[in-house]
Amino acid sequence: MKTAICPGSFDPITLGHLNIIERAAQIFDHVVVCVAANATKTHPMFTVEEKVEMVKLAIASIPNVSVEVNTGLLAEFARRYEGAVLIKGLRAASDFDYEFQMDSINKRLNPELETMFLTADQRYTFLSSSIVRELAHYGSDLHGLVPEEIIGPIEEKAKRR
Ligand code: COA
Repeated sequence: MKTAICPGSFDPITLGHLNIIERAAQIFDHVVVCVAANATKTHPMFTVEEKVEMVKLAIASIPNVSVEVNTGLLAEFARRYEGAVLIKGLRAASDFDYEFQMDSINKRLNPELETMFLTADQRYTFLSSSIVRELAHYGSDLHGLVPEEIIGPIEEKAKRR
């Protein structure tokens, strides 16, 4: 069984992430969405539990996708799935520069681990989790940016902050 791992902070998951996950699910037997628990990014908007809950809502209708939490290095996490590859989305050339570096680090840690890239859908090349967080902060409309099912939870959280 060929497994793809879609890693990230998912603070929160966006339609850009979901588009990559859906496309990976059409290519691979199984896709694991890997939510990083110890990301170096400080002051996340959502707890890991909230991020996982939102990912679960977003992937509910895709049968071969599941979600896991990773508290360690991604290259070590990937060893749990024999022959698994990492899938990352590329929105711009700047993403490639960063991802090229990440792939080199991951290969150092786990030489058998390959990363494959899917180019972002044109509709989402501008999108990031921080843009969503900022718009939510100002009470702006999130339709078309994040999965419908998680708009409510994001708005609720933004109001409480
Ligand atoms: N659509 C929309 N947004 C996207 C996207 C896409 N297709 N691809 C990336 N992004 C956004 C993310 O939302 C994120 O936005 P933000 O900075 O506003 O929050 C940004 O681009 C960066 O995403 P990504 O490159 O996936 O980084 P990440 O910080 O979310 O996760 C990991 C990076 C996966 C390496 C990290 O979280 C992890 O697993 N860490 C564990 C430790 C480790 O192994 N580190 C690497 C070796 S040092």
